[in-house]
Amino acid sequence: MRKIYFDNNATTPVHPEVRKAIEPFLSDQFGNPSSIHWAGRDVRKGIEDARQEIASFFGSQPLELVFTSSGTESDNLAIKGIAYRQGNAGKHIVTSQVEHPAVINACRFLETQGFRVTYVPVNRHGIVEPEKVREALTRDTILVSVMYANNETGSVMAIPEIGAIARDAGVIMHTDAVQAAGKIPIDFSQLPVDMLTFSGHKVNALKGAGGLIVRKGIEIEAMSHGGHQERGRRGGTENVVGIIAMGKSFQLLRTRMADEVAEVLRLRTKFEKGLFDRIPELVLNGHPTRRLPNTVNISFRYVEGEAMLLNLDMMGIACSSGSACTSGSLEPSPILVAMGADPTDAQGALRFSLGWGNTDADVEYAIDAVETVTSKLRALSPLYPSTKEAKAR
Ligand SMILES: Cc1ncc(COP(=O)(O)O)c(C=O)c1O
Repeated sequence: MRKIYFDNNATTPVHPEVRKAIEPFLSDQFGNPSSIHWAGRDVRKGIEDARQEIASFFGSQPLELVFTSSGTESDNLAIKGIAYRQGNAGKHIVTSQVEHPAVINACRFLETQGFRVTYVPVNRHGIVEPEKVREALTRDTILVSVMYANNETGSVMAIPEIGAIARDAGVIMHTDAVQAAGKIPIDFSQLPVDMLTFSGHKVNALKGAGGLIVRKGIEIEAMSHGGHQERGRRGGTENVVGIIAMGKSFQLLRTRMADEVAEVLRLRTKFEKGLFDRIPELVLNGHPTRRLPNTVNISFRYVEGEAMLLNLDMMGIACSSGSACTSGSLEPSPILVAMGADPTDAQGALRFSLGWGNTDADVEYAIDAVETVTSKLRALSPLYPSTKEAKAR
């Protein structure tokens, strides 16, 4: 069976150059980076070189980077790290309704610890309007956390504007850039942002490694207390292989990102146009243009996203549906609901996220497959107008 991977916002394949870069760290470079003998020193050098590469990619200082196990851990470290360190200054946090669960659930936890959280709404394109953030600020706001780009719709937020509002108010600003990193240019040195989250497995590196950039001078409480790793901000022996992999990925991205983004955008545009030209009753979820170059989220009216997903999987296509199956009932995606999508449209939503390695042939095959599956499922749907008409005749 032909296999087409259109789920790069979930995770990405490991780049062959990354695989090559980690090899020595799976064999003779095995030391503990905290050991001061030769075996440790070699590995420490690998980690510090990776730190340098990643800092250069984001335009940060190497020492501003804290390596973690994931985007999720980085978000938790940013949010709880500020809450626990700065909680005496205030007990209010501002975030948005469309954040990843790593942010939403860290905030929900803090609500059980005496913090108040405002979840700012989004407009119909899934974008946080900066003025809404300004309106949400109170005298005891200690943190604003708004994602750079949304994982489900790809909508890109106005982070420079939101960061400027937070900075004017003297409030610390965090952004979850897990999906934006490597897809749109980010220059931390120019951004009014104090903390930025990224994750290795979204950029063709490995699962289980991520990072948080913490601007010099911003103090956070560690969430993992232990050794002195990461300058006391994250105790625990480093995930050496994961860090080396991220270093290589971001090094590659520094030279290949522009070309790769242009190619992915070309393929996504072709895919999107093919679907909209050939299949009626589709709704684009997310901003038409202010969107990640690889992402398209579409509601297929009169069908369920989950059924589409399973049928496409049988044809070798991996994509993602926004709905989560909880206790047998399909819950529409909270992101699409927050955007004001019609609940039935939200249930028929599918996310396709393209990436490195996809080809024109993948796109052409996928357009045909999606058209076939949509027609098949709509023919079974009593709600689809032409089915209804056929039955009435
Ligand atoms: C926007 C966003 N934030 C955070 C995460 C969590 O990252 P990780 O899988 O590295 O924990 C994801 C993963 O899908 C994401 O899309």
